[in-house]
Amino acid sequence: MTDSAIWCYVVKTRAVIVLRTESTLTLEIPADPVFANIRPFLRWAGSKRKVIKHLLPFVPTRFDKYYEPFLGGGSLFFFLGPKRAEISDMSGMLIDTYLAVRNRPEEILDNLRPLKPNKTTYKQIKRAQPIDKADAASRIIFLNKACWNGLFRVNSAGEFNVPFGYPKSDFIIDEGNFRRCATQLRRREVSIRQQDFEEIEDRVCAGDFVFLDPPYVTSHNLNGFVDWNECLFSWKDQVRLAKMAKRLARRGANVLITNANHADVRELYEGFIYSSFVRSSTLASDKSRRVPTSEAIFLSGPAYATLRSKAVARGIRKNGRQGPVNSAERYLAKSR
Ligand SMILES: C[S@@+](CC[C@H](N)C(=O)[O-])C[C@H]1O[C@@H](n2cnc3c(N)ncnc32)[C@H](O)[C@@H]1O
Repeated sequence: MTDSAIWCYVVKTRAVIVLRTESTLTLEIPADPVFANIRPFLRWAGSKRKVIKHLLPFVPTRFDKYYEPFLGGGSLFFFLGPKRAEISDMSGMLIDTYLAVRNRPEEILDNLRPLKPNKTTYKQIKRAQPIDKADAASRIIFLNKACWNGLFRVNSAGEFNVPFGYPKSDFIIDEGNFRRCATQLRRREVSIRQQDFEEIEDRVCAGDFVFLDPPYVTSHNLNGFVDWNECLFSWKDQVRLAKMAKRLARRGANVLITNANHADVRELYEGFIYSSFVRSSTLASDKSRRVPTSEAIFLSGPAYATLRSKAVARGIRKNGRQGPVNSAERYLAKSR
């Protein structure tokens, strides 16, 4: 079955289906027919929109509340459309934009409708510093759509500093999808916060689903780590995150984490179920440098208990010896 056929199947069918992931885990998931399938209103570096099909098999069939503390463009949140959710991000500019989309979507659409993404308009809007919240959100959305590669980057003075991206079309926003985003954000039990990821910890309960999609540990060419993305999300933060994920899973929450597929990262998530998938890198400006990269998925929590026992069983069969699979690294070796 091709990728897109699997995709349609996951989204449309009500039957229990079996998906085979890259790491050859076989999962049985009941496909949920009520996915909201809304697209994010922002483009986002590291967005999961194009790889959602790799995450869906690991979304628990039922969960109480959804937490996404590294929100970015919110691909999984908008796709699932959960009734109860806490979505958050460290970026104040981003969260202010979400709040304005929730509270004043029609004013934002009125602002965006006449704008054409050419270099002159881009420069003018980049220089503007609107105080009104709907105007500020309109500015961010316009720049995000018209800038290079959808990067949302500010300099040390907090100024948006991404060059014009020469978009191929004049199309800024899909109004229908934008309104659906606003409606999803307005749900009574969806809260939107600006905060560090660790602040969710006190509120997460057994039965909740926590999706953790942090800035990735970055690798350089094939030489291993050179740049740890230190100022954005340090290795200390990665360790802090892994520790929190373990505490949440121990509490009975179901936790899904994504990151770069690197041995040091896999070691951080020792004891978690591990899977991986390949995506083409979207960040290089030169298309020839957009080489496929491998991304890791780590899972822990009661919803993954049967998966764990299947993985252990396979490990025992392949190696002809007993013993729990308690290391992501060993699990990787066994599942290849
Ligand atoms: C890889 S992006 C998330 C992408 C998102 N899942 C999507 O599909 O668009 C990571 C996000 O983490 C946020 N972030 C960085 N450090 C953080 C922290 N300490 N706490 C919470 N969010 C943080 C960044 O602002 C960024 O939006």
